[in-house]
Amino acid sequence: MTGIKPAVRPARPFFSSGPCAKRPGWTPEALAQAFLGRSHRAKDGKARLKDAIDRTKKILGIPADYRVGIVPASDTGAVEMAMWSMLGPKPVDLFAWESFGEDWVTDTVKQLKIKDSRVLKADYGELPDLSQANPKHDVVFLWNGTTSGVRVPDGDWISKDREGITICDATSAAFAMDLPWDKLDVTTFSWQKVLGGEAAHGMLVLSPRAVARLENYTPDRPLPKIFRMTKGGKLNEAIFEGETINTPSMLALEDYLDALKWAESIGGLRALIARSQSNAAVLDRWMRECGWAENLAREQGARSNTSVCLKITDPAFTKLDEEKRFEMVKKLASVLEKEGVALDIAGHRNAPPGLRIWCGATVDKADLEALTPWLDWAWAQVKDA
Ligand SMILES: Cc1ncc(COP(=O)(O)O)c(C=O)c1O
Repeated sequence: MTGIKPAVRPARPFFSSGPCAKRPGWTPEALAQAFLGRSHRAKDGKARLKDAIDRTKKILGIPADYRVGIVPASDTGAVEMAMWSMLGPKPVDLFAWESFGEDWVTDTVKQLKIKDSRVLKADYGELPDLSQANPKHDVVFLWNGTTSGVRVPDGDWISKDREGITICDATSAAFAMDLPWDKLDVTTFSWQKVLGGEAAHGMLVLSPRAVARLENYTPDRPLPKIFRMTKGGKLNEAIFEGETINTPSMLALEDYLDALKWAESIGGLRALIARSQSNAAVLDRWMRECGWAENLAREQGARSNTSVCLKITDPAFTKLDEEKRFEMVKKLASVLEKEGVALDIAGHRNAPPGLRIWCGATVDKADLEALTPWLDWAWAQVKDA
């Protein structure tokens, strides 16, 4: 711990957990060739949407017989269109250990009112008992809990002989963690996370089993147009070829294409994962030594390499009530913001008071290395204030 101001500032102080940092070297020039003022259904417009689908599939290693679609309303839109279209015929096991998982519990239990749903919960920092997943049930879960920094370690707990479908919100995991496609029937993510794209659209990945569910089950509830994926009881294949349900942002699309091309240029998924892991390792090393903060995620194997969440363990902090702790975190974040060294790193409003530092692939390791002495400095300022 030191009262001396560090000499070096991170070159890019962007550590927000969404929208996340743009790729290194990004400028608005990247959008110069965007297909603007034209119809997304024109030949070239549609070709660009299809290109985004094809590149996504290739980079992520998604099996050829899986469908990938661009859908409205970011990750939330993708998750909810799947839930509203597919849930109902079987009991649902919901795993929740932070705020976004809780949202999908609310959708399933309070809005959709699915009978026999089971909620399997854990506190911030922990994982629920994944072995409770019943292969006869549908399962809804997050690959990475963005607000607690806790991820599932793997998909071994999902039966390959399951009867239900799995719906996985992978928005802060896709492009940063290996996803076992054979265990995932519905997978969703947005453009604004690991690749640093813009929000607006969601990606919806469907396995053949998910398609079978769509074609064999008609939910007894109204479905708005933006949720409808079938026509006459058959999958509307056009959605998965770039014919979006409604009008997409071609500007956001161009930006996503730029991000995908950057991902390809650095070596694809392996390189993206490696960047994120070595970013998270910088914080890990620092947390072991700093003496005032620890990883909120208790188990090593469940620690996120994207949304790294920190709890403050200094007694000067832990002795305070929750309101005061939130105030102290706010001060800490604002000291760092004023110095221009870290933006948007206060923890999520629904998480316990602490910090959250994004380590996805678009963040540079050198910037995290430059950040850690500033964290120590800022804590010394706030603690002694
Ligand atoms: C796990 C998870 N699910 C859903 C969302 C909501 O994403 P969006 O606002 O892109 O719909 C987020 C956003 O941070 C998230 O982290």
